[in-house]
Amino acid sequence: MAYSEKVIDHYENPRNVGKLDKSDDSVGTGMVGAPACGDVMQLQIKVNELGVIEDARFKTYGCGSAIASSSLVTEWVKGKTLDQAASIKNTQIAQELALPPVKIHCSVLAEDAIKAAISDYRRKHGAA
Ligand code: FES
Ligand code: FES
Repeated sequence: MAYSEKVIDHYENPRNVGKLDKSDDSVGTGMVGAPACGDVMQLQIKVNELGVIEDARFKTYGCGSAIASSSLVTEWVKGKTLDQAASIKNTQIAQELALPPVKIHCSVLAEDAIKAAISDYRRKHGAA
């Protein structure tokens, strides 16, 4: 299958690979798996006093599209508030990366991962 140039770029030069300290109160961690293929994605955000995401990291055990989707999302969420980041849709990711239909679930994984990271952060801070 042909990958788009943007997928290949993120795959070859992934942005923000790595980990943040899970136990840090300013860090939210989301770990999700794709039932369709068994791939796993961990996405983490670091939130400042103003409620703005100042850093993000990911680790993805998965296909090129999943790696590209998580890499793209870590770029997109930086500088956003939690609400703004929570409104990122997998369709935006799929469109930006020109994902073919069989790879749409890879972008869903990235949307789920950022939402899970935000929930984790909010849970740590006493919100639902
Ligand atoms: Fe092979 Fe996702 S199905 S990496
Ligand atoms: Fe399953 Fe991409 S995440 S094939």
